[in-house]
Amino acid sequence: MTVSRISLIRGSVVEMKVDAIVNAANNSLLGGGGVDGAIHRAAGPELLAECRTLHGCGTGDAKITKAYNIRNAKYIIHTVGPVYRGSKEDAELLASCYIRSLDLALENGCVSIAFPGISTGVYGYPIDEAAQVSLRAIRTWLDTHRDVEMNVTLCCFRDAELAAYEKLFR
Ligand code: AR6
Repeated sequence: MTVSRISLIRGSVVEMKVDAIVNAANNSLLGGGGVDGAIHRAAGPELLAECRTLHGCGTGDAKITKAYNIRNAKYIIHTVGPVYRGSKEDAELLASCYIRSLDLALENGCVSIAFPGISTGVYGYPIDEAAQVSLRAIRTWLDTHRDVEMNVTLCCFRDAELAAYEKLFR
């Protein structure tokens, strides 16, 4: 059995030294604001060029690209979270973002991955609920992949995100 870890860090996902950083993208995969904007700015125009070849991404799904000028990571995994509506489907789609991202990381030989709080900005997912759903999804994935190494960083950009996860780790 391999030991995988979940760590909580305050900072920007763009700066994480990991094999794959995750982007909270939209269905077009052609960039936007928030963490998506920060990642595209840091990675440079070649990222947009590769994203154009992917023909978008469904909500709850993920696609992988190279990281270009973001030298601290090898890959960017672009996932599309749900716009929060307060329905049961929100949690299923949000959990799917984390699961699909972890699957892609594994398929591409990654042993470390850093996530921002998918859907917790513009897409309006309440931070406490999102923290619960994401942590449950990650733990379930790690439990069903006990033979692989995967170190997961939960990257918190704001105090509120950090506080939401800290409550669950206590
Ligand atoms: N590193 C880590 N987390 C960050 C960073 C960063 N550099 N910047 C912001 N956050 P959002 P969404 C946090 O809005 O809700 C884009 O326009 C932020 O505090 O980036 O999934 C896309 O193109 C928040 O908690 O993503 C889509 O159209 C979390 O990241 C739409 O926004 C997510 O906020 C996706 O919305």
